[in-house]
Amino acid sequence: MEPFDFYMPTKIIFERGAVKRAAEEAEKLGAKTLIVTDKPMLSTGLLDPIFEGFKEKEMDYVLWSDIVPNPRDVDIERGAVFAKEQGIDSMVAVGGGSAIDTAKAMGAILENGGKCEDWREGNLKHPITPLICIPTTCGTGSEVTHESIVNNTTTMEKDCIWGDEVSAKVAILDPDVLINLPKKLLASTGMDALTHAVEAYVCKAANPFTDALAETAIRLIGKSLTKAVEENSEEAYVNMMAASCMAGAAFGNSDVASVHSISEALGGYYDIPHGTANAMMLAEVSRLSVPGAPEKYADVAKFLGVDIKGLSAEEAAYAGVDYMEKLAGRLNIPRFCELDVVDPKDFKRLAHTAANAEETFDNPVIFTEEDFAALFERLYNKNK
Ligand SMILES: [Fe+2]
Repeated sequence: MEPFDFYMPTKIIFERGAVKRAAEEAEKLGAKTLIVTDKPMLSTGLLDPIFEGFKEKEMDYVLWSDIVPNPRDVDIERGAVFAKEQGIDSMVAVGGGSAIDTAKAMGAILENGGKCEDWREGNLKHPITPLICIPTTCGTGSEVTHESIVNNTTTMEKDCIWGDEVSAKVAILDPDVLINLPKKLLASTGMDALTHAVEAYVCKAANPFTDALAETAIRLIGKSLTKAVEENSEEAYVNMMAASCMAGAAFGNSDVASVHSISEALGGYYDIPHGTANAMMLAEVSRLSVPGAPEKYADVAKFLGVDIKGLSAEEAAYAGVDYMEKLAGRLNIPRFCELDVVDPKDFKRLAHTAANAEETFDNPVIFTEEDFAALFERLYNKNK
């Protein structure tokens, strides 16, 4: 077995209705809290029990809701100036990966100074401002990872602020937040969680601890994602919320792989939502990666509930890939060729970014720039 580190400092609170416990946890971290969320989230009413909790405890809080998908360095740096002026002791991030990653990056700047791009080498000196995360999708996993992904508006690429310092103190997982999540988001973020779990499991940085988390996450997603989207099953929401976090803990301690090499290139350049980009690419990248880890992909098929009786490891692996492709279709995930923003003249640049992403080297098969470009061409022309 290869040596590995496993770091999981985040307390997890898992309970239906648990959002109301934010104030109770924030109270332990100091007198004044910054609640970080996006504007659409405010109008859902999901934060009302959080605000009530703070009022009941007569705790001081301020709000920052200037958040966009694929969070940008310039917005984060503005948010950090605001947070500093307010003299806060802790943060509560409520939302998907964008809200959580924004809060993490703001907290990194608050405690370390500088700008986002100063901290992309894993070189933070001090932990981020104490953070409580309340994920409202079933995809990010960021509540338990040790990184924040930020759009660098100068390079139009994704920067990663990472290290043990970038960990939340508490993750409050309330499956009830998924009840009113638009089905499209439930589907794409659920596929994001599946991507995290599959990549954590097949990548070269996997270890027995992350394998255990990834396996259970894949099993839960196989059993529950379509039921959550199509049947409003409460049990499925519970399973998806648990699976998303477990998948985050898995890839946070192993790695992601080349689905993410692509989704981060697409997110940085075209602003395509992370979950959608992953969901779109998962099957095709997996198909090309099977030769590097056929047994592991065969396991993925088994965990997903695919009938692999009598199949060789390779056959089972490809049966799992077919299942993932059908799943994306069933959940109405858009195809690459259907995206208006995509322009073939960008493929070379995107392929260059993807080929040089760190996670590319942990994929079971290491793709070259030409491999990525050929993949973009093929998917762009598929069924046109
Ligand atoms: Fe991701």
